[in-house]
Amino acid sequence: MVDHAAAPIEREPDTAPLRPGLGWAGPSRDDPEVVALRDHLAANNGIVGLEICEPHEIERAVRIFDRDGFVVVRDALNAEQTATLAAGVIAAVEEIVSLDDTREGNRGSHRYSFGGTSITRSMLHRPEWRMLVDLPTVTPILTAIFGSTDYVVRAASGDFCLPGAVGYQPLHADMRDFVSPERTPFSSFLDRRGYLTTRDLPVPYVCVNFLPFDQDRLNGPTRQIPGTQHARVPPPTLEEEPEWMRLSTVCPAPAGAVQIRDVRAWHGGTPNLSEHVRAIPNVEYYAPWFREPTIPAITYADWRTMSDHARHLTRHLVQDSSEELRTGYSFAPLLPFRPR
Ligand SMILES: [Fe+2]
Repeated sequence: MVDHAAAPIEREPDTAPLRPGLGWAGPSRDDPEVVALRDHLAANNGIVGLEICEPHEIERAVRIFDRDGFVVVRDALNAEQTATLAAGVIAAVEEIVSLDDTREGNRGSHRYSFGGTSITRSMLHRPEWRMLVDLPTVTPILTAIFGSTDYVVRAASGDFCLPGAVGYQPLHADMRDFVSPERTPFSSFLDRRGYLTTRDLPVPYVCVNFLPFDQDRLNGPTRQIPGTQHARVPPPTLEEEPEWMRLSTVCPAPAGAVQIRDVRAWHGGTPNLSEHVRAIPNVEYYAPWFREPTIPAITYADWRTMSDHARHLTRHLVQDSSEELRTGYSFAPLLPFRPR
């Protein structure tokens, strides 16, 4: 068990370089309310007794994942991989933010989804994200969670928030049952009889978020509510949310770690009151028995460079070698969805 007070990150923090002017486009960093919130978070933010596993602690990681709906594993990436990912993330952040002068974001002010701005809905066109699909530190844990090596990649995405993201993102889950093609274009599960929802199933969909930078009390750590992956009640709104949930954040957690999440568990973004971007690029996986629509995101040439297992996991995401894969970023409404 790792306690905040007992085990701070004992080295110079890995923080993201950021071009001046990328953040703090809204309230000032010196606004009295911002200063008061910063002081409050510096003193109180974070899950007390956050347990952090080592990559070899597979059984322990699965036990915590089943119990809490998420688990943190340190050293999923080595120093070189962490630096590579950090550089790729900063390049993508610069490209995406350059399209958004007012920092309106697409997940609230100063908040962005990588996949939500990528025109493939995924980041697998970048080598830094492809590197994450099959790692010797994470693949055994995913295999244990799913009980099989035959799971698949849904997409690779993640999100980031700029300094000056002063608000909280409402608690939510990342998947829901089918309602209509317009409201739930990526969902497929519907039990017309009303007996079962996706919340009653074993975990169908896992997201692995990678930390290219240290996650601390002030730079917008993910807030994660333990044990909510099967909850049949909706999460509280921002107005209803109790303070203990606002402070239930995954920090401190070191660069190179992963947060492995059951996406049904309630979670949300928190204020980034630091001077650095905070990003959590991810890879998202479906259980061997679960599928929802996906779209191509890797060229055949890039797919050929991946490991055997990574090629197996991404076999539904590779573009036909005779077709061009258009990539780039846009804040335009979702393109017409082409299931396959
Ligand atoms: Fe989310």
